[in-house]
Amino acid sequence: MSNINTNTSFAVLGSNGAISPFVIDALAKHSGVKKLIVLSRPRPSSSSKPSNLPANAELVAVDYNNHSALVEVFTKYSTDVVISTLSDAAIFDAQKKAAVAAREAGVKVFVPVEFGNVTIGLAGKGERNGEGEGEDDIQVKKNRFAEFLKSIELPYIHVFTGLWLRWISWVFGYDVNQKFNIIGKGETPASFTAEEDIGGFLAHILTTLPLSQLSNTHFRLQGERLTVRQIADRLGKPYVTNVEAIPGSGPSDWKFRTLITSQCDSGVGSTGWDHFTQKDNPGPGPNPMSGKGEGEGQGKEGKEVKTRKPRGVGINFGKDMFGRGWRTS
Ligand SMILES: NC(=O)c1ccc[n+]([C@@H]2O[C@H](COP(=O)([O-])OP(=O)(O)OC[C@H]3O[C@@H](n4cnc5c(N)ncnc54)[C@H](OP(=O)(O)O)[C@@H]3O)[C@@H](O)[C@H]2O)c1
Repeated sequence: MSNINTNTSFAVLGSNGAISPFVIDALAKHSGVKKLIVLSRPRPSSSSKPSNLPANAELVAVDYNNHSALVEVFTKYSTDVVISTLSDAAIFDAQKKAAVAAREAGVKVFVPVEFGNVTIGLAGKGERNGEGEGEDDIQVKKNRFAEFLKSIELPYIHVFTGLWLRWISWVFGYDVNQKFNIIGKGETPASFTAEEDIGGFLAHILTTLPLSQLSNTHFRLQGERLTVRQIADRLGKPYVTNVEAIPGSGPSDWKFRTLITSQCDSGVGSTGWDHFTQKDNPGPGPNPMSGKGEGEGQGKEGKEVKTRKPRGVGINFGKDMFGRGWRTS
């Protein structure tokens, strides 16, 4: 496998979700990206670009059910990397169809939707301590998709991020009762990452790391490692601990919020979490808020990766800047 990164042509699946604008923006600003297309389902006003699309990103309308058209798009643009930002509902539908077409068109790396808690090892586990919904659990599905990518021999990377900053108040039900509602004591550290940093990180590694390091690799990002109480304190907001469920607008809403916040309580909300050992690896490195120098990450599963001087979240993320720590496996 090549030791040089030659990725210059990128395709993002999904134009206007919660994470896609950050991924598209970061790629559009990166000097290593020479071609950027954004695949989007046809819409009535397909001629108009979504407002968030940068000038150098080309919107391409696609019908994910049209296999040959998808192959043609990836072939026409000599796409090296496909990044899926599709909704969870599309994982084994549109995303799978795009992966099959990408494989046929010779795409080098596929990035499926992950961008949350660690999913390695969940496939086949079924119901997880009553937390999820068995094989329909989104996190289980995400892990099953990795098996699918292996089966079609399409190299992939997984990026685990923990909770995104803009989702914190929603997940803890602050929008409902203006409090952080906490399952348990709120004293377990979890990982939180800014959406800007996810986009910047992706653009950086996908244009610089050799293919050998981008093949079936897991990246564990952590912009901040904090307990929920620390977050509430930092924001100067009240919290209530040991709630049974997070308030929400309906059963699926509060159940989902409760699942994610339960994971923050049990340790699963850390991107160092290992589902096999049921243990967290907090990872070394400086406190991101201390602003002190470099750290080192030693991945549980292997390769050691230097981390760079951390920046506060939400600050512009330069080409060579990483989040607090990242590990590969
Ligand atoms: N860690 C966190 O805090 C956090 C928070 C939220 C989400 N997430 C995760 O991030 C990932 C992306 O979530 P998101 O909220 O950004 O996605 P989203 O807004 O639900 O959807 C993203 C895009 O997917 C396309 N899409 C939607 N439904 C589709 C379908 N049925 N078939 C094909 N395409 C479809 C749409 O693009 P077009 O209209 O352009 O086709 C849409 O803009 C998910 O895996 C989610 O679990 C993580």
